[in-house]
Amino acid sequence: MFITNAPVKETIKLENDIILLKIYSPDIASVIKPGEFLNVKVSQTCFPLLRRPFSVCDVEGDHIFLMFNILGEGTKALANKNKEDLIDILGPLGNGFHLDDNFDTAVLVAGGLGVAPFPYLTRMIGNKKNIYSYIGGRTNTDVITYGMKNFKASTEDGSLGFKGNVVELLAQDIDTLKSEKIKIFACGPNAMISSLKQFCVKHNFDCEASTECAMACGFGICQGCPIESANNKDKYLLVCKNGPVFNIRDIVI
Ligand SMILES: Cc1cc2nc3c(=O)[nH]c(=O)nc-3n(C[C@H](O)[C@H](O)[C@H](O)COP(=O)(O)OP(=O)(O)OC[C@H]3O[C@@H](n4cnc5c(N)ncnc54)[C@H](O)[C@@H]3O)c2cc1C
Ligand code: FES
Repeated sequence: MFITNAPVKETIKLENDIILLKIYSPDIASVIKPGEFLNVKVSQTCFPLLRRPFSVCDVEGDHIFLMFNILGEGTKALANKNKEDLIDILGPLGNGFHLDDNFDTAVLVAGGLGVAPFPYLTRMIGNKKNIYSYIGGRTNTDVITYGMKNFKASTEDGSLGFKGNVVELLAQDIDTLKSEKIKIFACGPNAMISSLKQFCVKHNFDCEASTECAMACGFGICQGCPIESANNKDKYLLVCKNGPVFNIRDIVI
């Protein structure tokens, strides 16, 4: 884990007000894995006080990329960085996706900005496995396809692709999915992960999901990011330390 002051190299505006921040950080770029995250101090002042967690979206050489849209003060401050501004970054943090399991096809399931960790996951899978990507949103402007390969989209209002949610879209392809040795990788809102869990248990699919919650320290000290364990009723896991990527069967969601 590094604490580094890393310079912003480029702020790229994607479609639908999505921002991609390119940051020079050879230390982090050389070790970070898909699904791991960074805890970012967004300003040089005490406001906002807490760091903000972001998945690594991609890595190119010595550069790391973050993907976000403007929600509040933290993301606003990040979006307003100028070239060469330094950002205080803590990371890599957490446990990422496991790519060395026994599967032939990676099935990536994203809801909204849940696509954020997938460009790097897609890059790391490369041509080693097949990739099918399923991207869901409420409406067409929520569907982000940057860095995604071989994708289908769903929208709840039917403005793009399949009309319905992304798990319903996945269910349409059940025959194909059952005929291949697949592993599902997911990231999105809790409601999506919860519905995906039921789908995976029903069809006996392996699935790892990246979960989100409010965080403070980002590395297991403050106990501020609990998620209920499915294996031991009295036990809570920490999203920042035990996750954010979990086997979907290990958590109550
Ligand atoms: C492990 C992890 C990885 C993450 N990766 C990414 C990423 O790659 N890209 C990205 O855009 N975001 C990501 N997030 C969420 C991101 O941390 C928050 O969006 C960010 O902290 C918002 O900061 P802010 O100061 O702009 O908004 P705040 O002022 O903190 O919040 C503004 C509004 O957004 C809501 N909000 C805050 N966080 C979330 C959230 N996680 N989900 C839904 N609503 C939220 C708040 O309730 C509030 O209404 C991740 C979170 C975690 C825990
Ligand atoms: S954020 Fe502090 S323990 Fe997880």
